[in-house]
Amino acid sequence: MASKFPYQAWQITEEGFSARDLRENESVFALGNGFIGLRGNLEEGAAAGAETIQGSFLNGVFDSEPIVYGEKAYGYAKNHETICNVMDAKSLTLTADGEALDLGVCEIAAHRRVLDMREGTLRRGFEWHTKSGAVLRVSFARLVSLTHDTLAAAALRVECLGGACTLRIESCIAPAVIAEGDPNDPRNAAGKDRSLTPGTRMAEGDVLAMEQRTKNSGYTICCAVEHRGIPGSASLRGDAAVWEAEKRLGAGDTLTLEKSICYMAARFEENPALFAETLAACRAAPAFDALLAGQKRVLDRFWDGVGLSIEGDDALLQGLRFNLFHIFQSAGRDGRRNIAAKGLTGEGYEGHTFWDTEAYILPVFIHTDPELAKKLLEYRYAILPKARERARELGHARGALYAWRTIDGEECSAYFPAGTAQYHIDGDIAHAVCEYFDVTQDLDFLAACGAEILVETARLFYDLGFFSAEKGGRFVLNCVTGPDEYNVMVNNNVYTNCVAEENLRSAGEAMALLREKRPADYARLLGSIGFSPEEAQSWLEAAQRMYYPETRGGICPQDDGFLDRKPWPLDSIPKDKHPLLIHYHGLTIYRHMVCKQADLILAMTQYGERWTLEEKKRNFAFYDSVTTHDSSLSMAVFSILANEIGDIRTGYDYFMSSARLDLDDMHHNTKDGLHMANMAGTWTGLVRGFGGMRCGRGQLRFAPVCPPQWKGYSFRVGYRGRTVQVTVDADGPQYTLLRGDPITIWSCGEPVELS
Ligand code: BGC
Repeated sequence: MASKFPYQAWQITEEGFSARDLRENESVFALGNGFIGLRGNLEEGAAAGAETIQGSFLNGVFDSEPIVYGEKAYGYAKNHETICNVMDAKSLTLTADGEALDLGVCEIAAHRRVLDMREGTLRRGFEWHTKSGAVLRVSFARLVSLTHDTLAAAALRVECLGGACTLRIESCIAPAVIAEGDPNDPRNAAGKDRSLTPGTRMAEGDVLAMEQRTKNSGYTICCAVEHRGIPGSASLRGDAAVWEAEKRLGAGDTLTLEKSICYMAARFEENPALFAETLAACRAAPAFDALLAGQKRVLDRFWDGVGLSIEGDDALLQGLRFNLFHIFQSAGRDGRRNIAAKGLTGEGYEGHTFWDTEAYILPVFIHTDPELAKKLLEYRYAILPKARERARELGHARGALYAWRTIDGEECSAYFPAGTAQYHIDGDIAHAVCEYFDVTQDLDFLAACGAEILVETARLFYDLGFFSAEKGGRFVLNCVTGPDEYNVMVNNNVYTNCVAEENLRSAGEAMALLREKRPADYARLLGSIGFSPEEAQSWLEAAQRMYYPETRGGICPQDDGFLDRKPWPLDSIPKDKHPLLIHYHGLTIYRHMVCKQADLILAMTQYGERWTLEEKKRNFAFYDSVTTHDSSLSMAVFSILANEIGDIRTGYDYFMSSARLDLDDMHHNTKDGLHMANMAGTWTGLVRGFGGMRCGRGQLRFAPVCPPQWKGYSFRVGYRGRTVQVTVDADGPQYTLLRGDPITIWSCGEPVELS
């Protein structure tokens, strides 16, 4: 399928203007910095006849509302949390001699929009032939600062190429116009009052400011905008604050305008002076070009850490860079904000954080930007108290149970069978802590946050399971939902048992390490979390006796009952009935032998040493035949295992289906925001899938293959203070140590000394 975007190494370009694609492109062209997220909305508002989804988001800033259940029962999640679509400050409307700029109505030539992934900007340009006979060359640029988390900036330049006109410019801050969600799609927020309460507004000279408050969650949100370049006047109009200016342009004249935009948010009691602070920060904001220089610096560093290239497939390279660019833009950087399933690009999944962060996104940052990875893990530490509370509420005497979906730590999943029951999230977080520590050896983090997370999640699994006489005294975990949401509340989901086993072992190991290396921290933890070496001994026993369902006919059941479910051949399901979750009742789905997404296959990539190559091959073929991939989290994982079992062709096909999923809107819901986990999964698909990277306990191993479609590829990974570049082509792999001390790595089972 040809893409609507030309294949370019560092840019995504829309040539011309497609009203039909406007909403998808608003997601594609979104900009963010981990705090502020701005959808790629047109400055002048949607073109006549085109549908738009306006969006300006602040990571972690949400409103809440009680969930109304028809039949409420004990322990159900109490509140929705929904990311706020805050006041909009992107707008710049132009009027030439009374004719308002509108791409659907005006005579426009050579319209082009460019997202630049090295510059961190969105630029737009076109020629406007006005009814009054002027020809204007209009250019917009926008950035969300990667060096100043509360700032964004916009620039406008209008050049009169011929004729003359009086140009009026209007810039405003206005409450967001909120698009309706889809009430029949659980992935979309709908039916909630998402408006914010207006607060103070100001319009003075070149400055506008506005305050809003959430109704229930106690947030104050402030936005200020300063205009520089031409004189104008400000006023309050309706519920907006408006700045306007007018200038007569003759042939050869040019007009330039810059907007500094500042957003801040805090709980009211935390900062009653927020409005004044936002104004002050906006007035002190560096000019557009100064912020631009910062964008380049930050992005140069990021791309240097990633070091990605693909020889012989420009479309793929563009797709992979686009994916990495967006996860980088969306990840919270202050230890209190995380990364939502759609990042800061749309309102899908209400701005909630899921296991997506630890299972998909963290591996990328752990190996390319460990500081950022640490911040995301610190978020989990920050919400640990809520996870403890939730565990008590669910009847667990000890430990912490992380929310399946949340913004500030409270469980927001109203449908517990595919929500709270996904206990594996505790194990995913524990796994990410272990992986982070293995790669960075960051004892400070382990002592400050990591060990406590490991202990509390291990306690939870120990409390959840029991040694079953029926299963020969093995430790079982019953009534859980694994990653695959089409098989709910099952016994002994293999993936869950794998992550739990790792968690139960690693918690004790982490505490033993602290006792040896950080005795003071160890002593502190003994007191603060009441740890005892005896409990670590019981966790170890549970780990050693963890139960896994018996293989039947060479097939490893995903859970105890999976092979007893009714077959539902995928080719018997009409194409228009996908995804199943919005076309069939859950009960229909759950009684069938059908999977939404990778589950056992994920276990096989993450805990590969448990299975032989033969077993992997057999199970790959079987699960491939029963998986719908209705979740975007699925295909990248299938690609990794396909490569491992030597089926490079299938690995390549799955990889290609996930690499440009959002750029080419393959799931037809890019308009609601980009699929962050899949985007990160494609990096893993390259590095673990084709590169065959596995690591653990100080060993960094590769087993690279190169699909015949490419001439070669390369990437960089960080490991224990080193940066290793891996370059693969038809002649095989080459490894280069770019930074750090000499190290022995493993290539296809052979040691390689790098110095
Ligand atoms: C998937 C989950 C995922 C969620 C958010 C669902 O469709 O089944 O695994 O966490 O989307 O991305």
